[in-house]
Amino acid sequence: MPLICFASPKGGVGKTTLCANIATLLQRHGHRVLAIDFDPQNALRLHLGVPLDYEPGFVSGLAQGTDWRETMVETAGGVLLLPYGAADMRAALGVTQALDQSPALLAAPLQEMLADPTLVVLADLPPGPSTALHILAGMAQTVLVVLLADAASAALLPRLAAGEYFGRGTVAALRNARVQVVLNQVEAEDPLSAAVLGCADQALGIRLIGAVARDRRVPRALAERQPLAALAGEEAETSPALEDMRVLAAALLASLPAPRPQGAAEAGQRFQVVS
Ligand SMILES: Nc1ncnc2c1ncn2[C@@H]1O[C@H](COP(=O)(O)OP(=O)(O)O)[C@@H](O)[C@H]1O
Ligand SMILES: [Mg+2]
Repeated sequence: MPLICFASPKGGVGKTTLCANIATLLQRHGHRVLAIDFDPQNALRLHLGVPLDYEPGFVSGLAQGTDWRETMVETAGGVLLLPYGAADMRAALGVTQALDQSPALLAAPLQEMLADPTLVVLADLPPGPSTALHILAGMAQTVLVVLLADAASAALLPRLAAGEYFGRGTVAALRNARVQVVLNQVEAEDPLSAAVLGCADQALGIRLIGAVARDRRVPRALAERQPLAALAGEEAETSPALEDMRVLAAALLASLPAPRPQGAAEAGQRFQVVS
């Protein structure tokens, strides 16, 4: 099943926030969703209700050959998660080095996950170029590049509009064709924000797959360790960011196969419910 990567040349733009929320929304549409955290910040788990002191992880276990099923957790909302794992700087650099030397450490388990016809796999990447993105790019159905509606992001638009996110050449062209852009933290009332959105629309055309409003409920949801998409009642109905995320999820759903009926977890998969 498909792999959707959340990437960006920049940090702090909302990759992790969008990954957690789109995972939750796709899951609510009936898909079985596996979200993988490739950022040593190990923060994706916090958006999905996994406690701060939960340390096991998929990426940090790769170099030791830990089976990915052992580190998969079922989060409170039902999204399956492979956390990065607790790792200090030396350990994170060790993981990068191990993947540089042996890309199959990551490529092999990913191939297994993608061979599961019931799974949609979402990957939350660290900012900028990374070994993980380099390995995943060839397997991805979509690479969602997240930017902000600000001047620094606007400066990156020409390269994206030229279709050169992964560089030039025949292989990069294949990968560039899978790039779509989301502008996050858009403030319709702010002239600069609106101008950047307008520029992105003109420069990117259909590559601009969505825009998400700046909304105080987003950081508040993180403080409560749940995705915005878990909001209910009036809060959910009045959240412009949640509305935009639903529109983005619908655009992504259109390119996914229909959800398959979900049976019990396959034998050998050990789930751990984290509340
Ligand atoms: N639409 C939004 N409105 C308001 N705050 C947001 C929005 N999207 C993300 N944020 C906040 O921006 C910060 C960075 O988001 P994060 O998802 O961690 O970015 P990244 O993964 O790209 O580093 C977080 O504090 C998050 O709560
Ligand atoms: Mg992040």
